[in-house]
Order: sequence, then structure tokens, then C-alpha cells
Amino acid sequence: MIGELYEHALAGRARPEIEHADGSRMPLTVDDWFHTSVGDRSIVDRCQGATLDVGSGPGRLTVALAERGIPALGIDITPYAVHIARAAGALALLRDVFGRVPGTGRWMTVLLADGNIGIGGDPAALLRRVSELLTPMGQALVEVQAPGKPLRKEQVRLRHAGLTSAWFPWAYVGADQIGDIAEDAGLAPVETWSADGRWFAVLRKVPAPADADTEPSDDDDLAAPCDDRATSARLGSAAAVRETAGAAESEA
Ligand SMILES: C[S@@+](CC[C@H](N)C(=O)[O-])C[C@H]1O[C@@H](n2cnc3c(N)ncnc32)[C@H](O)[C@@H]1O
Repeated sequence: MIGELYEHALAGRARPEIEHADGSRMPLTVDDWFHTSVGDRSIVDRCQGATLDVGSGPGRLTVALAERGIPALGIDITPYAVHIARAAGALALLRDVFGRVPGTGRWMTVLLADGNIGIGGDPAALLRRVSELLTPMGQALVEVQAPGKPLRKEQVRLRHAGLTSAWFPWAYVGADQIGDIAEDAGLAPVETWSADGRWFAVLRKVPAPADADTEPSDDDDLAAPCDDRATSARLGSAAAVRETAGAAESEA
């Protein structure tokens, strides 16, 4: 997305379109990423425990989660997006979801909002990665397309006033397609809903038998069974998330 044109769009200096491999174009809805909406609130309502906002962009959801008292970390590969997110008050790190991510295996909720199921162009690979990031009791909240649209995996690029970014892989997944892809990645679809014209799914990690028997350890500071509020308060605190992110940043 990726690259200078995207950063110009975030700064309000360009209004690029997304160009698809077949030449069709659609607007990049950057303005929507700066203000929370009814659809966003329906996502935040479903987040439980320490939450990783993957592809957090300017950070509106990371901030909304923190304001709701949910410990949240945003990660994004675009330096200017991370800068804006931090300026808005989000805890955010410059990280590739497929690279080293702090708290791997300990997040209660992983968020893929605003079409971020498209990251990398291979939704099954992305959901397998999400599954690795989650604690055994964790869930992924994924924004999808309305049902009835084709599954697309393709190269796209940004275009504005004759300038183009490099092509990059992206995918579009519908509410009626996410279940099968999730199951291949070891995640069980448990809810689909629509709000404000947007569509979402909750995917719950299917614990391996060994995971189901495992008690969280004392230093497992992000893991928290979603139905155990006392443990969640002790282990999934904002301080624990901040400490984990800070340690990752000083290592980098
Ligand atoms: C559609 S925008 C999402 C906007 C964001 N959710 C918000 O609330 O503003 C996609 C974001 O994903 C980021 N991104 C793309 N590939 C990524 C990757 N491999 N790891 C982390 N972030 C990535 C982009 O830099 C971009 O900010």
C-alpha cells in the first residue's frame, strides 16, 4: 500500500485509487480510517482481552480499544501510519504481521479490520499466521466483503495523478467465503454480522487437545481465558501490553 503514495494519502496530500490487475479502480477510503463509526463500535464491543490490531494504519481502532479499557497494540509496516497512530495516542509498533511480533501466541484477540484480511494476498496464510499470534482461547475479528462477491487474490497498486505505487498482493474475501478459509487455518467461524453496511466475522481458535489442558503460566502476561475476568484483569493489562511492546522496540 505501501510506499510514498500511501503516506501522501494518510497526510491528506493525495487521494489515490486502488488499481486492480484488470484495470478497474476503486477509491482508497483513507478518510474513513480517521473516524470511528457504528461498524467500528460493533468490532470494539466484541474485542476481549489483550488485542492486536494488525495493519492498524492511523490507529483509530487501537485508540478506541484503549479508550474502552481494552489493552491494545497496533502494528503496521508503514512508518508514517505508525507515527500518526502514536500521535493519536495509540500504542503502535512498526512491524510486519509475518515477521517478529511481540506477544506471539498470547493475544486474546487479533483484529483484521478495513479489508486487512487482504494483507499479503493469501488469506489462508494470513489466518494461519493469526492463529500463531493467538492464545489457545483466542479469537480473530475479521472484516470481510458482503456475501455474493467473488473471492479475489490479485496484484493491486495505488494510482494518483499519473503516479503509481509498485504492485503488491492483496485479497478480497466475502462473508460467505471466510468460514472455509478459516477452518483450513485452524479457526472456527462462530459469528458473522453486519453493521453500517460493513460485514464482519468472529473466528475462534480451535485448541489442540494439549492446549486445552494447559494452564496459563505466571509469566504469560497477555494470555487470559475470555471467560475468566479475574485472570484477564491480572494478565491482560494495558501495562503488560505496553511492557511487551516496549521490550520489543528496544530489541529492534
Ligand atoms: C486498509 S489499511 C487499514 C487501515 C486501518 N485498519 C485503520 O484503522 O486505519 C491497511 C494497513 O495495513 C498495513 N499493512 C499492509 N501490509 C502489512 C503487513 N504485512 N503487516 C502489517 N501491516 C500491514 C498498511 O500499511 C496499511 O496501513
